[in-house]
Amino acid sequence: MCGIVGYIGDQQVYPILIKGLKRLEYRGYDSAGIAIFDQEIALHKCKGKVADLEAHAKNGSVSGTIGIGHTRWATHGLPNDVNAHPHFSDSKSIVMIHNGIIENYSALRKMLEKRGYAFRSETDSEVLLNLIEDVQKKEKVELDQAVRIALHEVVGAYAIVLFSKENPDRLIAAKKGSPLVIGVGEGEYFLASDATPIVEYTRNVVYLEDEEIAVIDRAQGLNIINIKNQKITPYLQEVELQLEELEKGGYEHFMLKEIYEQPRSIADSMRGRISVDGTTVALGGIKDYEQKLINARRIIMVACGTSWHAGLVGEYLFEDLARIPVEVEYASEFRYRNPVIYEDDVVIAISQSGETADTLAAIEMAKSKGATIIGICNVVGSSIARATHAGSYTHAGPEIGVASTKAFTAQVTVLTLMALSIGHKKGTLPTQRYQQLIRDLEQIPSKIEKVLKQNDKIKQLSDKFFQATNFLYLGRGYSFPVALEGALKLKEISYIHAEGYPAAEMKHGPIALIDEQMPVVVIAPKASFYEKVVSNIQEIKARKGIVIGVVSEGDKTVSEIADHIIEVPHTDEVLMPLISSVPLQLLSYHIALLRDCNVDQPRNLAKSVTVE
Ligand code: G6P
Repeated sequence: MCGIVGYIGDQQVYPILIKGLKRLEYRGYDSAGIAIFDQEIALHKCKGKVADLEAHAKNGSVSGTIGIGHTRWATHGLPNDVNAHPHFSDSKSIVMIHNGIIENYSALRKMLEKRGYAFRSETDSEVLLNLIEDVQKKEKVELDQAVRIALHEVVGAYAIVLFSKENPDRLIAAKKGSPLVIGVGEGEYFLASDATPIVEYTRNVVYLEDEEIAVIDRAQGLNIINIKNQKITPYLQEVELQLEELEKGGYEHFMLKEIYEQPRSIADSMRGRISVDGTTVALGGIKDYEQKLINARRIIMVACGTSWHAGLVGEYLFEDLARIPVEVEYASEFRYRNPVIYEDDVVIAISQSGETADTLAAIEMAKSKGATIIGICNVVGSSIARATHAGSYTHAGPEIGVASTKAFTAQVTVLTLMALSIGHKKGTLPTQRYQQLIRDLEQIPSKIEKVLKQNDKIKQLSDKFFQATNFLYLGRGYSFPVALEGALKLKEISYIHAEGYPAAEMKHGPIALIDEQMPVVVIAPKASFYEKVVSNIQEIKARKGIVIGVVSEGDKTVSEIADHIIEVPHTDEVLMPLISSVPLQLLSYHIALLRDCNVDQPRNLAKSVTVE
């Protein structure tokens, strides 16, 4: 939610900010803006994307070597020019960008209005900025101290970067709940919501912690204090991210590139976790917590969106292979429900970005009740990765397309490895089946290659259905979460209403929707309940629905009754979600393209949801 960048150094800041904002645009693209100091503060901001900002900014002075930039996902106030960041303080002496939500902004705004402050925008961010200005005036302190004191009054989440025209040689940044990374170069510093805008300049970064305030001064360099005014020693880390991973690499869209990366990303998720002889699985990151998992009374999967669907696959895996009861929770519900949590519960928090606000809050809540928390994150060093007791990274590489694809299959891969390892150690998964599943898992990347070869066929299929107004996705067992994920992908990027349902449950509602206009995607690989799924397909055909079957290679039965089929290589049903989700990603991609939708940046969505 919102991307923020900042720079102070000797280089011209404009191109650094624009490039950085483009890298962060996946976090929101309702409006964009920059503020740069050169004799005075030049502010450019407008509704729309970073490209619109570029056109806008060409008319003004954009030279300078200190500046901040913002790309917005609107929370408070419409996505328009006025609500776009950066914001000026009332006196126009301070300029600030903000990512997060100030929950008590309304009370603060009333208080400030009584004190004579005027507001130009409807944003909570401007309220925080004027509060800082008010504190500075009242307390007659330096800006960094005003920030520190003001933040005591604030309820909510923030990552902010600001500077003043009185001291344009100093950037101040602070965070709580929203991420902020500081890149440390030679006499220059970069600030960003994640490391992607920083890596082409420096690999040395400091992840600012909650309630820390960074003061970056041309003369004095980087100093960090916390909200209690204690000095903090910056902890410098090296990021491994490769620049090429952030480019489209010849593909038309990031989403397509990421779909095609799956054979490699799944292999990367397994790398070093399966013994060379292919007989055992070991996940180093959770080694010290394995016993906790083995003895767990219950596993609670906590996640949002696509990651929640991965959690659902995890439920099938852990119950099936490790015989541990599993509950899968939407983090946003779980965190507020006062759930019963035992000390021998293990929470598995799943998040691509590692920054999702609800997932983070759910972790903190479960932790406070004594549960053990294991993370499955993609972004190394992210807030969730740091908040958990232990965890396994998915190693899928940066995912830029807003609709998650390779992160999902990587999450499922890690969950599979965990369930295999725990099930075997616990004795619920016999060695022979354990080792067979490992062998099958190692075959998955090459099987996905075969699915990808059907891209043209799936494209042709999309041609037949891109004008549909509704879609139904059905599956049973391990294919049920795949149905949910397939429907979500279509909704997200093509804006076609789609519902995922357990195939048998269709009789209790969605069947009423079926007519000759309704495409129904049925995930029907050779697996348990195959015959039952075939009966469900008959029920759809009896009501003249159009069936697109995702079936195992060589399938005869479904092929005869379905209108269209997509064949996928056969594998054990436990591993099938890794394969069967891929054609559904391609289907939604092509349908969205035919509908002229912005595949990588679908309307209203953001990749990283750092507000609740
Ligand atoms: C947003 C993204 C989804 C993602 C979800 C959870 O809605 O658009 O693609 O699945 O957040 O994000 P996380 O980073 O926690 O997996």
